[in-house]
Amino acid sequence: MDLVTYIQASTGHLPHILEIERKSFPFPWDVNTFSSTLEDRRCEGIVAIKDEMVVGYCFAISLSNMVHVLNLAIHPCFRRKGIARQLLGNILSGAVSKDKMYAVLEVRTSNVPALTLYSSMGFTHVSTWYKYYTETNEDANVMVKDLRKNKAMDVELSIVKNREVASEIFSLVLEGDMPPSYPGQFAMVMVSRTNEPFLRRPLAILSQEGGTVEMLYRIMGEGTRLLSKKRPGELLGILGPLGRGFRKPESGSVIYVAGGMGLPPILSLAEKLKTGYFIYGVKTGDDIPMLERIMAIPNTETIIMTEDGSLGEQGLSTDALRRVAERTTADAVIYACGPEGMLREASAVARNIHARCQVSLEERMSCGFGACAGCVVNTFQGNQRVCREGPVFNAYDINWS
Ligand SMILES: Cc1cc2nc3c(=O)[nH]c(=O)nc-3n(C[C@H](O)[C@H](O)[C@H](O)COP(=O)(O)OP(=O)(O)OC[C@H]3O[C@@H](n4cnc5c(N)ncnc54)[C@H](O)[C@@H]3O)c2cc1C
Ligand code: FES
Repeated sequence: MDLVTYIQASTGHLPHILEIERKSFPFPWDVNTFSSTLEDRRCEGIVAIKDEMVVGYCFAISLSNMVHVLNLAIHPCFRRKGIARQLLGNILSGAVSKDKMYAVLEVRTSNVPALTLYSSMGFTHVSTWYKYYTETNEDANVMVKDLRKNKAMDVELSIVKNREVASEIFSLVLEGDMPPSYPGQFAMVMVSRTNEPFLRRPLAILSQEGGTVEMLYRIMGEGTRLLSKKRPGELLGILGPLGRGFRKPESGSVIYVAGGMGLPPILSLAEKLKTGYFIYGVKTGDDIPMLERIMAIPNTETIIMTEDGSLGEQGLSTDALRRVAERTTADAVIYACGPEGMLREASAVARNIHARCQVSLEERMSCGFGACAGCVVNTFQGNQRVCREGPVFNAYDINWS
């Protein structure tokens, strides 16, 4: 179902949440329980929004090495449309990014649709709490999912497509089992089976659906040139998903800014959130891959900027950002990926309007998983590894000087 967006829950969503809660449970949570959950810094709440209305929500609490799913409900008119799966998937992705090892939940033994959903998402029944629901004397099944299975894996994926989609820019589609990723994460790609080049190359994960993983890369040097020669049917060594991706917006408008090959993580996020302003800047119109796909992001106003004016408007992506920022409120969030100068400027624009800003950084990488300290960036919390603590950082944490 199109045009459902998933954002962080806030007190403004409470009237809709309470209505769904009352329609869903014989003994619903009251407004105080929801309010204290929203205030609890250990808790995360995500709402599904359709046509500006909350149609579902999920709340969870982080406890030492696990996340406990506290509440999940969908408006009766929107059930069986995959919204519960998306909400829970969002909570689980967040837990994996915080290095949680387990997800746990309890569910009424009579709630067959929920039991089926949780089983299909990898939860297993580990024990039964007898008469746990005291109001009805019903038993609860306690179900646990091992999140370590979502950790990066070294896998071999088969190439389905590796096609030039703009000047020296290739779309790579792979098939096979890689643990689920979320926007902003990347994979280390083995471009050669010999020692030349020895190191894998980091590429953002543009999309992942079913058993298909998609990436988009520009030929920069030897590694990406070798990659561009690979043909459908060949196997490619992939280590992923790696790093920490974008955090979801709590509220307010969303502005995406991509420059050049900063496109894949930003497009991935925009296709997931399906709302906001999408600004994409390149040198010239020939450099734009996937224009149709960019223009088709639902519910999103797109601005294309080219330095030579050959397509869209002439100027830099940050020129458009300044203009869009003037029209937005302080609760906006800016997501940016591209050249360092663009990220620094995006951060300055965000600061001017008191908006939040997350930037995805690129550094040369060797291992990709935090072992070599070869990718550090200077932040106000000290040196941090782009591959492990990033690549997505809060822009205000980066020491740009
Ligand atoms: C987390 C992350 C995600 C990335 N995602 C993508 C992506 O989705 N699509 C894409 O096209 N590229 C992406 N990159 C950049 C990509 O990894 C490099 O372009 C690639 O490794 C170059 O390898 P090469 O062997 O072709 O070039 P090399 O021979 O290694 O280098 C060629 C030239 O490119 C420069 N270069 C190489 N790597 C980088 C880098 N990381 N940042 C800036 N300059 C670099 C070198 O300084 C040199 O001038 C990403 C990088 C990171 C760190
Ligand atoms: S690339 Fe080795 S620590 Fe980041």
